[in-house]
This record gives sequence, structure tokens and C-alpha cells, in this order.
Amino acid sequence: MTKSLSFALAGLLAAAGTARADLQTCGSAQYDPSQYVCYDSSFLCPIIAGEGLSYCSGACYSSTMYTCTNNVLTQLTPLAAGTPFTLSVSNPANTAVDGLAVNACNLTWNLGVETCSYCPDSGVECPVGNTTVISAGADGSSMTGMDVVVPGGQTVYLDSTGAVGYTQAHSASIPDGATQGGLVAYSGGGFVNLNSGGYGWAACPPTSQAGGSGYTLFAVSAANKDTLASCTPINLKVNVQPEGTVGAWEYY
Ligand SMILES: *[C@@H]1O[C@H](CO)[C@@H](O)[C@H](O)[C@H]1NC(C)=O
Ligand SMILES: *[C@@H]1O[C@H](CO)[C@@H](O)[C@H](O)[C@H]1NC(C)=O
Repeated sequence: MTKSLSFALAGLLAAAGTARADLQTCGSAQYDPSQYVCYDSSFLCPIIAGEGLSYCSGACYSSTMYTCTNNVLTQLTPLAAGTPFTLSVSNPANTAVDGLAVNACNLTWNLGVETCSYCPDSGVECPVGNTTVISAGADGSSMTGMDVVVPGGQTVYLDSTGAVGYTQAHSASIPDGATQGGLVAYSGGGFVNLNSGGYGWAACPPTSQAGGSGYTLFAVSAANKDTLASCTPINLKVNVQPEGTVGAWEYY
């Protein structure tokens, strides 16, 4: 967002908000503190998924993907290929979902339910397998995978509804209409879907598909944003795991 856009936004809010009692003042503008953060008494940045966007020399930015160094907006570095990480939900404005772990089960990523993993009986050593560990793709451009032992691995994709799926062990098959690639884990930041045009992620309330408990994770896009309107917007926080961590033999 540019400086002039910030001022334009402020002017709009001042005009629209005169009847509200709980408004605060930012320079010459009034704003709703549940929707915006004021910087330097003059710049407004929106609150998105509970995160008040940060401010850097005229721009509002999300700390999931950027940082501000010496007043210059800089993109965070994608994790190196193969780096193990877990994901947790961030939306400080919504305590029901904030901090939930992303869990793989039934070949889908869910929020706040159990991880489903399998270990073959035949005398192999398996990781504990009760947490969902993901392995970063190369520079974000190639495939994100589940952090597993099983030969062939398990590739992560977005299905045609925007849910996050992963391939079954011993199968490379992905559903028709699925999207691969463009899911990037940023060092010190978040897990970002670069395919979506900036719509981000949503936690959708329990459905029978997810066993009636926990939330289902969706990547929001222009195509599904209306059907997901009742879901909670969230960010996904990247938690890097020690080098060599393996999540499970395989997730199912
Ligand atoms: C996973 O299992 C280990 C060992 O049984 C236990 O210490 C740990 O708390 C478990 N973690 C989760 C997230 O369930
Ligand atoms: C996985 O699917 C089974 C069978 O449909 C269901 O009972 C279970 O609750 C589901 N679990 C999750 C976490 O989705």
C-alpha cells in the first residue's frame, strides 16, 4: 500500500465513521481499532486474520512474508528445500482457533484434531508419528511434501475446493483439478499460498467430513471466497523443527 493510498483510506473512514462512538483518531482520520492499526499518528494499516499489518516507509505489510530492514520492505527467505517444519494457526483475535496445530489425517490437513500416521509392523524403526511435520519444497517453486520415511514420499497439493491434501503412500495420484506448487514456507514467517492472489487461509467449522470435530483448512481464492464467508480467516505460522526431524513413516 502506498502513502497516498493510506491517506485515501483514512479519508474514507473519516467520512464513513462519524456516527461510531468507539472510533479513535489517526492524524486527521477516525478509525475503528478493531479493523485498523494507526502508525506515527498518520498511517492506517488494516487488521487481517487478526494480524494488524505492520508499517514500513509508506507500505503496510504482513509479517508472514515480509520484514522491514532499515526502512526497506524485504521479503523473508523461503526455507531451504527439505527443511522440516510444523504449522500452527495464528489469529490473535479468535481464541477458538489461535494456536491450533495443523494435523494431517484422512489425506487432508485439519486443525486441532489428531494426526493419523502408520508404521509397518515388519521390524522397521518408525518416528513417533503423533505430530504433523512438513518438508519444504525447493525455493517454494517445487513440491512441498509431508516429512515421511515412506519411499516415494507424500506430495502436498490444493484440491479443487481449496482444501489441502496429500498423496497416499505408494501413490503419485492427485485428484483432477488439484494445484501443486506455490506453497511457500518463509523463514521466521508464515506458510503462504502464492496461487491465491492474496486471499490467504481460512479455518472452517467442523464438518462430518472432518469427523465432526476440529476445523478444516482451506486456501481461499476468488472462486471459493463466497462459500467460505462464514469461516475464520487465519495465518499459518511456520515452526522450524531440528534438522533431521522426520514426522512419521507415513501419514494416512
Ligand atoms: C507424542 O508422543 C510423545 C511420546 O509418547 C509424547 O511425549 C508427546 O507429548 C506426544 N505429542 C503429541 C502432540 O501428542
Ligand atoms: C477420518 O475419517 C474417519 C472415517 O470417516 C472419521 O471417523 C474420523 O473422525 C476422521 N478424522 C479426521 C481427523 O478427519
